[in-house]
Formats: sequence, C-alpha cells, structure tokens
Amino acid sequence: MAPVLTIAQQKGGTGKTTLAAHLAAAFAASRRVALLDIDPQRSLRRWHELRAVRAPAPPAIAFADTAGWRLAGTLEQLRRAHDLVLIDSPPQIETEARLAIRAADLVLVPVQPSPLDLWAAEGTLALAAAERRPVRLVLNRAPGAGRLRAAIEAEIGQRALPRLDAVLGNRVGFATAFAAGLGVTEAARRGPAVTELLALAAEIEGLLG
Ligand SMILES: Nc1ncnc2c1ncn2[C@@H]1O[C@H](COP(=O)(O)OP(=O)(O)OP(=O)(O)O)[C@@H](O)[C@H]1O
Ligand SMILES: [Mg+2]
Repeated sequence: MAPVLTIAQQKGGTGKTTLAAHLAAAFAASRRVALLDIDPQRSLRRWHELRAVRAPAPPAIAFADTAGWRLAGTLEQLRRAHDLVLIDSPPQIETEARLAIRAADLVLVPVQPSPLDLWAAEGTLALAAAERRPVRLVLNRAPGAGRLRAAIEAEIGQRALPRLDAVLGNRVGFATAFAAGLGVTEAARRGPAVTELLALAAEIEGLLG
C-alpha cells in the first residue's frame, strides 16, 4: 500500500494546495502518484484539469476529490494502485481533515513566517500528535533572511517543534507554474524555486523511506 502524505493546516492561504501540486508533479517524474483533494474549494481539480489538456502531456497524476463516507474507500483504492498518495485538505481540522491526518504516514503543515501561521499550526500539530502521526512544519513563502523569519525559526527551535530543513521562498515561479497546470520542476529546469522544491521532495522521500 502506498504511503500517504497529508498536507494540513487550519489557517487558510498558507500554501497547502501549492505544496500538494508541486510535490505531486515532482514525485510523478519517478513514481505513480495520486492526489486526493478533500477541500470543497477544489482548486487542485482546476490545476489538474489544466494539466490534462497540456501537450506534450506531463507525467500522469491520478486525481480524486471526495468527502464524507466515501473518503476511506477512495483513499484505499488510490493507495492500492499508486506509489504515493498526497492529500490536500481544507483550512480546518474537523471531520475530513482529521481523517486525512489519521491516514497519513507523514503530515506536512505549511507555515508562512508569521506568528499567526505558527499559532494556527498548533492545532494541526496537536491533532497529529494525538493520532500519533509523524508531522513536520514547512516554512513557506519565507524571505531569504530578515527578522521575521529569524524570529519564527527561533520560536520553532526553542519549542522544539518538528520541522523540515527545506524552506520554500516567496517565488512567483510557484504561482506561474500552477497557473499552467504544471509543477515548478516541470516548468523550468533550474532556478531557486526548482532547487527548493527538489530539496523539499528529497527530505520527504527520506522520511517516507
Ligand atoms: N512559496 C510561494 N511563493 C509564492 N506564492 C505562494 C507560495 N506558496 C503559496 N503561494 C500563493 O499563496 C496563495 C495561497 O496558497 P494556497 O492556495 O496554496 O494556500 P492554501 O493553504 O491551499 O489555501 P486554503 O487554505 O484556502 O486552501 C496562492 O495565491 C499561492 O499562489
Ligand atoms: Mg488549498
């Protein structure tokens, strides 16, 4: 059964869907990847539809969006037929998001370098801990340097919160590739966004084994 990577954070707009799309595309270069969108906003479906009509076709990514009582069955089917399943979740930690965390082999919690994001992440971290699921914060839209980033990294360190070393910067490349139905690693061969995303994917691969 394929491992499940769930991206969750109760605060909106922290980069869950962005991470799900770019990671799915990066992993799709070498394995069978499925995306499960449990967010009723369905932005990942839009991305996937754009992807489907591209020529030449990028590597296939299976896609399902579902909710409610179908979730467990859909997830099981996807896990059987793929090498990796990524779940994009809505900005809350109730019902479906809770199930997605429970099913995860690894939970990623994107946080932008702001206390608001870090505080909002606490609920997701606590839920993952309660479900005994491995969880990591991912710093997203981080400036290369600066006081705010330093303060957030210091707080994460002082509180010994689990985090990935890989950090994504605030880069227009993530949004432009998304708008084209691509991952950033498909839209360009090199560049800071590509380097960051590959480092993130490699770190996740190491954790999933
Ligand atoms: N690293 C980044 N660099 C530049 N823009 C980014 C980055 N990450 C996310 N964004 C932008 O931030 C906005 C919110 O991102 P996204 O929709 O992925 O967040 P989300 O957590 O899925 O939001 P929601 O909680 O509403 O589902 C989008 O406009 C996206 O393009
Ligand atoms: Mg989203």
